Amino acid sequence: MRILLLGARGQVGHELAGTLAPFAQVVASSRAETNLDAEGVRPLVEEAKPDVIVNASAYTDVDGAEKEPELAHAVNARLVGALGEETKRRRAALVHFSTDFVFDGEKPTPYVETDATAPLGEYGRSKLAGERALSEMDAAAVIFRTAWVYSLRRKSFVTTMLRLAREREELAVVTDQIGSPTFCRDLAQAVALILYGCRTNAVEAIAEARGIYHLAGSGSVSRYDFTRAILELDPRRSEHRVKQLRPIRAAEFPLPARRPRATPLDGAKAFAQWGIRLAPWRDALARALT
Ligand SMILES: NC(=O)c1ccc[n+]([C@@H]2O[C@H](COP(=O)([O-])OP(=O)(O)OC[C@H]3O[C@@H](n4cnc5c(N)ncnc54)[C@H](OP(=O)(O)O)[C@@H]3O)[C@@H](O)[C@H]2O)c1
Repeated sequence: MRILLLGARGQVGHELAGTLAPFAQVVASSRAETNLDAEGVRPLVEEAKPDVIVNASAYTDVDGAEKEPELAHAVNARLVGALGEETKRRRAALVHFSTDFVFDGEKPTPYVETDATAPLGEYGRSKLAGERALSEMDAAAVIFRTAWVYSLRRKSFVTTMLRLAREREELAVVTDQIGSPTFCRDLAQAVALILYGCRTNAVEAIAEARGIYHLAGSGSVSRYDFTRAILELDPRRSEHRVKQLRPIRAAEFPLPARRPRATPLDGAKAFAQWGIRLAPWRDALARALT
């Protein structure tokens, strides 16, 4: 299987480069080599001749997207649409990622794939536009909606909290944002297992399974309790300066982009389709930190 992997230096892309390599010929592309736009995609795909395109590239700066919505839409929607067209033209398949931020977070129970979308900010709107571009053209594409992705390698919520715990005596963290933290390696392994499982006829298998699937760490937690777990499970906690974790409301910590209140994702559809479910978020965090 030939795979063109886009965004190979990102949190998920970096892990995918490792997890896909044992069973596929991976052509990895990162922004350092190709600053992608919709026009730039065609020659890249032409040259790589992939059976499957895995798109881990995205404009992921939630607050930045409020200031530069055009760029967010160019990467998260127009580029994705172009990938969908190339996928169709080449009779290839596409694996793409989207986000829990397509929801407004007001549902009292975990979100399923068919729930109504209502993004609160430009990032969520641009990602939703990317999802829609693929479903409107009926591309052979599987879209994994994930959430709260963290890596220990790149700047993420987890690395930021670990840094602040060493720098400050008090940390204020919001209690009224709840989600499903996802260790980027677990997500990449799950996607690799799915692709490995359909390696003999990947294009047909993805075409058949086309659609949206929720794939995030199991369970959900508030930003505040997630931070408590990060500090508890950090093997270097003896180096922490922090003495107090102060619970605050999101309204006390205004950011350019509004965040949804609670977006736990229900992974039952992915489990029914592939028998894959990501580990509980706390187990994954403990592994990530060791
Ligand atoms: N991070 C989260 O919390 C989160 C939550 C829900 C869903 N997701 C989704 O999960 C997927 C993977 O996210 P991630 O956390 O791995 O993101 P990430 O770490 O920000 O990586 C995204 C990658 O895309 C690259 N990129 C951005 N614009 C590009 C362009 N125009 N051309 C080529 N490459 C470009 C970036 O390059 P540089 O390295 O040069 O910047 C980066 O390597 C994305 O679809 C994202 O929307 C993420």
